[in-house]
Amino acid sequence: MEYDRISDANLITARYMDSLLIEERLIDSVVADTSTEIFGMRFSSPVMTPAFSHLGRYKNRELTGLEEYSIAAKKCNLLNFCGMMENDMFQRIADTGAKTVRIIKPYADSGKIRDQIEFAKEVGAVGIGMDVDHIFGPEGFDVVVGEAMTMQTMESLHSYAEDYGLPFTVKGVLSVRDALKCAKLGAKAIIVSHHHGRMPYAVPPMMILPQIKEALIGKDVKIIVDCGISSGADVFKALALGADAAAVGRAMLPALEEDGVEGAKDFLTRVNRELWFIMCNTGFAGVSEIESSVLHRLQ
Ligand SMILES: Cc1cc2nc3c(=O)[nH]c(=O)nc-3n(C[C@H](O)[C@H](O)[C@H](O)COP(=O)(O)O)c2cc1C
Repeated sequence: MEYDRISDANLITARYMDSLLIEERLIDSVVADTSTEIFGMRFSSPVMTPAFSHLGRYKNRELTGLEEYSIAAKKCNLLNFCGMMENDMFQRIADTGAKTVRIIKPYADSGKIRDQIEFAKEVGAVGIGMDVDHIFGPEGFDVVVGEAMTMQTMESLHSYAEDYGLPFTVKGVLSVRDALKCAKLGAKAIIVSHHHGRMPYAVPPMMILPQIKEALIGKDVKIIVDCGISSGADVFKALALGADAAAVGRAMLPALEEDGVEGAKDFLTRVNRELWFIMCNTGFAGVSEIESSVLHRLQ
């Protein structure tokens, strides 16, 4: 007998997301409002940009892809994220004026982490965070572009969350256990993510979301989800399953590469427009009202 065994978490996640179907609720319809609040700021949508790094200049344009999507986030009034980079690059992102959360790598050098947090604060980041799912590589502690990573403890994360007066986000939460630890250490947000499938057979973020949501009831922690989000329908499903917001990642890249700021802006606008359309068709006036009874699972 032949087995069809697929360990790629990206594929498993896509299959799971596509098995979720949405019912319509049209009588007494409402015109939806997609605006949302996070870290005390109001945004047009719960759609967010991804914590990306290492995007160069596409098609010989003047700005890097990182700056281009940051400008698009600003124009669309969305919360912006960025990932691994040195301070000079973060300065350029800050210069775009986008409201940006800087996700810092779990560097072995804690001095570097603190330096990057301090710099982020100095130039106006609205939040900081760490992708804890990048601690290990296949052969030991991960080394990313020559930089060594190491384990993070409750104590180290608590100090980053407490010492700087900026909301702290833990990226790469994929269990109730870690979600509860994040609440305890003082994180203001988590990103439920398997970091585009770093670990084989990682559970789809949307599958674990309801349990994480339940565990965090009454705690002041926003739940953001990423991995495979490419449409307003995906964002809607994430919100129905317990997320407060969702980040689109690789799905934005073709539009960004092709048309820079305008391409990313059009893409993000399209995703939000689809979210709005589905909210209108399902009777949810605001994003915080969306709940899971509207979803069905294709068997
Ligand atoms: C080019 C690229 C660079 C990335 N850099 C980072 C990073 O520096 N820090 C981080 O936390 N995640 C990083 N990610 C992961 C994304 O933030 C996101 O978690 C992942 O791509 C899953 O979302 P997606 O399936 O929508 O792409 C990167 C992803 C890509 C494709």
